[in-house]
Amino acid sequence: MSSENARVKVVVRARPPQAGEESTISVNDDQPGLITIRAPATDGSEVTEREFLFDEVLSTNMSQVDVFEKTCKSQVDHVLDGFNACLFAYGQTGSGKTYTIFGEEGDSNQGIAPRAMEYLFASMKRRAAQKKFTVFVSFLEIYLDRLRDLGVYAGTDGADGRVEFKGSGSKPSSRPGTAGSRKSGGAADAGEPENLEIRENPNGTVHVQDLSAIPVSNTAEVMAVIKAGLTRRQTYHTLMNEQSSRSHTIVTVTVVAEGKGGDSESVTGKLNLVDLAGCERRKRSGAGDDASGIEDSNMRAKEAVVINKSLSTLGNVVMALAKGDATYVPYRDAKLTRLLQDSLGGNSYTQLLATVHPRPADAEESLNTLQFANRCRNVTTQPHINFLDADSEAQGKIIQKLMKEIAALKQEMGAQKTHYEDKLQRVKLSDLTSTIETGASGVTLDIGVDTGGEGGVGEAKSVSRGGSWGSKRGATGDKSRSATAATAGTSDANASALAEAQSLRCASFLKRDPYI
Ligand SMILES: Nc1ncnc2c1ncn2[C@@H]1O[C@H](COP(=O)(O)OP(=O)(O)OP(=O)(O)O)[C@@H](O)[C@H]1O
Ligand SMILES: [Mg+2]
Repeated sequence: MSSENARVKVVVRARPPQAGEESTISVNDDQPGLITIRAPATDGSEVTEREFLFDEVLSTNMSQVDVFEKTCKSQVDHVLDGFNACLFAYGQTGSGKTYTIFGEEGDSNQGIAPRAMEYLFASMKRRAAQKKFTVFVSFLEIYLDRLRDLGVYAGTDGADGRVEFKGSGSKPSSRPGTAGSRKSGGAADAGEPENLEIRENPNGTVHVQDLSAIPVSNTAEVMAVIKAGLTRRQTYHTLMNEQSSRSHTIVTVTVVAEGKGGDSESVTGKLNLVDLAGCERRKRSGAGDDASGIEDSNMRAKEAVVINKSLSTLGNVVMALAKGDATYVPYRDAKLTRLLQDSLGGNSYTQLLATVHPRPADAEESLNTLQFANRCRNVTTQPHINFLDADSEAQGKIIQKLMKEIAALKQEMGAQKTHYEDKLQRVKLSDLTSTIETGASGVTLDIGVDTGGEGGVGEAKSVSRGGSWGSKRGATGDKSRSATAATAGTSDANASALAEAQSLRCASFLKRDPYI
């Protein structure tokens, strides 16, 4: 269990360059985490080479299964242990976020979501003797800054995961469940999209009012929900991407693990898989340009403005969190950041998966993505186990607070130990004369100890130097030597601290030393 700070893990994936195309990105397998980009300077004048170091940089030809292993697998483990975890894909339009999160038809093209579910259900089977698991899935879309429940379209008919699609898509697609390009406004929803509300919980976290949480018992059922939702997700053709996501989506998989007696505790964890819409330049995507030939270019322009605004808020939130001591984090400036508040700066193990396109035309955007990713590396979160009881959130917070207090106390004790050891090194007990210098006051204390008393019991003689302060103890038969006297110019606190230290040191020394 942990409630310590965890740094956001940053992984970069560069999609492979197209045949015959130059690449601005180099990844060297001998230097893990290093990525080099050739991009124009900010004033556009000259192309320079820049290097960034991340937790992982995935080689351009890395398979989808290896991408899952390097990223989300550990997040699923966290969720099974009762933590919240989040993986969010960020990058310019067309750089491969949706491909990475959801993937495409065909086994080798499957993305992180189906692989994470396979791994989750297989892991739950292995732990079935200790825990009873229940799983729920929600699928949310943020389109034009409105919240829409994509889970309501789930119509599975059982374990085979077949989905009865409501509504229609206009074009077949290789992407699971996607309808391809559609008419503006969404297939089922004439006019404005749904607008679910965000509500704050008593502990400061948020939830979406009335969002479906669908009970699922295997991968096929989860994927049926996801596929049905993807069919209704807002994707449209732009000049930058055949199926450009015009909305942010969040798949949330909640795992409740009830202990089956013994030491097995009941916990709950959540996995958020976030596929962000990509930032785009309207000139390049054709949005807002009637001559571009893309469908309803004005609507695409409206979407682009809303997408870019929410991503810019995400940038501001990360900038504030990366500072570490920011007093104000603008979570409330966008629904996206409000919903991801806990994932970005709270109770979650969080990973950023930054996707970049190696085309020279995309170099500037790729550089922006890497700079955003670099800032995310400085963000820390505070994951803790979510115990399942009457007030699990409150309990989690108490544990987190106590862990912090213990850490602070340990640190304080360590500092005091060092302080006393430093002082006591100066005590010359071997010849029974000690000199203790007080760091705070710069005062010197000499203690003379006479061992010539009866029965070998020492008697301390106080020898004061420089008119400072002396120590005196009587020949009482008590073998501990303590500096007890304080004279003018020295604080009582210093005197008693030193007395206590010396007393402790001498007590243990006396036990060992046969000469005293
Ligand atoms: N690593 C990759 N390997 C092979 N093809 C890829 C890879 N990444 C992306 N692609 C292809 O690039 C195209 C665009 O990818 P995708 O739709 O995932 O981009 P995106 O980042 O989600 O863009 P947007 O922000 O517009 O939604 C798709 O046709 C996809 O198949
Ligand atoms: Mg996409």
